[in-house]
Amino acid sequence: MQDFKQVIANCLKEKIEDLSVEEIKALLEVPPNKEMGDYAFPCFRLAKVFRKAPNMIANELSESIEAKGEITKVAPLGGYVNFFVNKSQLAESVIRNVLTQKENYGRSEMGKDQTVIVEYSSPNIAKPFHIGHIRTTVIGNSLYKIYESQGYKTIRINHLGDYGTQFGKLIVAFKKWGDKALVEANPIPELLKLYIKFHDEAEKYPEMEDEARAWFTKLENKDEEATELWQWFRDESLKEFSRVYDLLDIEFDSLAGESFYSDKMGRVIEMLEEKNLLQESKGARIVDLEEYKMPPALITKNDGSTLYMTRDLAAAIYRKETYDFDKCVYVVGSQQNLHFQQWFKVIELMGFEWAKDLVHVGFGMVALEEGTMSTRKGRVVFLEDALNQAIEKTKDIILSKNPNAKNVEEIAKQVGVGAVVFQELSNSRIKDYTFSWDKTLSFDGETGPYVQYTHARCCAVLRKAEQEVTTDINYDLLTNEDSTEVLKVIASFNKNIVLALNKNEPHIVTRFILDLAQAFNKFYHDNPILVDDVELKNARLALVEATRQSLENGLKLLGMHAPTRM
Ligand code: ARG
Repeated sequence: MQDFKQVIANCLKEKIEDLSVEEIKALLEVPPNKEMGDYAFPCFRLAKVFRKAPNMIANELSESIEAKGEITKVAPLGGYVNFFVNKSQLAESVIRNVLTQKENYGRSEMGKDQTVIVEYSSPNIAKPFHIGHIRTTVIGNSLYKIYESQGYKTIRINHLGDYGTQFGKLIVAFKKWGDKALVEANPIPELLKLYIKFHDEAEKYPEMEDEARAWFTKLENKDEEATELWQWFRDESLKEFSRVYDLLDIEFDSLAGESFYSDKMGRVIEMLEEKNLLQESKGARIVDLEEYKMPPALITKNDGSTLYMTRDLAAAIYRKETYDFDKCVYVVGSQQNLHFQQWFKVIELMGFEWAKDLVHVGFGMVALEEGTMSTRKGRVVFLEDALNQAIEKTKDIILSKNPNAKNVEEIAKQVGVGAVVFQELSNSRIKDYTFSWDKTLSFDGETGPYVQYTHARCCAVLRKAEQEVTTDINYDLLTNEDSTEVLKVIASFNKNIVLALNKNEPHIVTRFILDLAQAFNKFYHDNPILVDDVELKNARLALVEATRQSLENGLKLLGMHAPTRM
């Protein structure tokens, strides 16, 4: 990839010993207006090293760097060295790259020979897959695609919440009040009702808690009845989850959830004992973390039963032994920050050097605007309902724009679901945000539909042109400001993917796609494409195709479709 920042950084490196090429590249900025140049290097950080004022440094650097090759002019301004690049060469390198690499444009082999586990989604059996779960699911899926695109061997794990004392409660509730047919007809809502009823009743009859504990112990001891019921709850719940995953086009390589570790925790407890990390506390066993200013890690309760944390320890050790990962990423809400800090510390105290490769990718909460979504029964919003609502609403929007639209069902699914996905990936993870339909489904805000529409618009132009797009064009015709703007954004694709990967922040890719859509729409508005001048038409069509391909590749990294008509 002909990378202008690279070329400029190489030139600067010859004059600046104290910074690496990478550091110089990272410092390069795009000046606020085009007359100033295409790229600017700020000299402020060098003032200390050179013991000179930044504008003096800028003057000296500008004088010493010769404008040649891709660089057409070098000029100082304030504390900056401004660079002008050869626009025609920019156009040629970007367009040739995209049009030859096609769906591989943006990919790299950076992660070759490295394995990354991305754990995400991980809903709880017999509990609704609610709107809050969408964040982990969508962020995780996008991170998977981002890692995969850079050559990492990437493994997707759904750490299902399918074990724990709550299953004792559910068994008790089902045995008391359950109806098999009702559950089968409507699994999760019915199981949820039973669970809620258990809690209401247990307030009046606390002995039910003991009963529940006893049933969980039976489950841990592989009692036949307990296991059968548990298996059935799990199967029925998974049927519902699969419908959501189908809507989102999401898959996993492993569904090894918490129950998978039921026979692997004994070994962990032994290891903790051998390393003298376990302490007794009121009959429970803990790892004391006071030295690290954290509450103790609870390993077994006073009745001997294991906990969520115990299973996370067992899972991490199992994954290291099974996949020998270089990085294991946990996409889980920030409410669980402490939980992850605690057990990452325990892994470290156990002497596993790979503790440093465990990464908790947290995220903020989703609030719903008042009246945003209808709920089935009770107050929980089911994700499946939300997605179906998105599809319905999108169908209405499409038909209102174009009553004769073809294939509406399919497009409404791609756009409606895509809108929700895009919205989820629009902000930096950690931010809490409020979900609103208007903001999500708008065709002209910074939204999924807007980007997909831009892609469809490119497709429409290319269809209408009725000719092959070629790279054999006059690149001088793609040097005006609008074209250069589009090309510069396209050229930054890989850099943005890598940045998103390093920060585990898919929203960086979202931002890239929006910048590209905006730059392209500006170009589209002011530069007619299907003109009589054949040379000009060919050049502009190549730019349209390069944009289209980059949008498609970007959307796919977010887990979205790129519809060709809307
Ligand atoms: N099932 C949990 C929940 O819904 C999330 C599991 C997160 N992953 C983990 N390894 N602890 O809250």
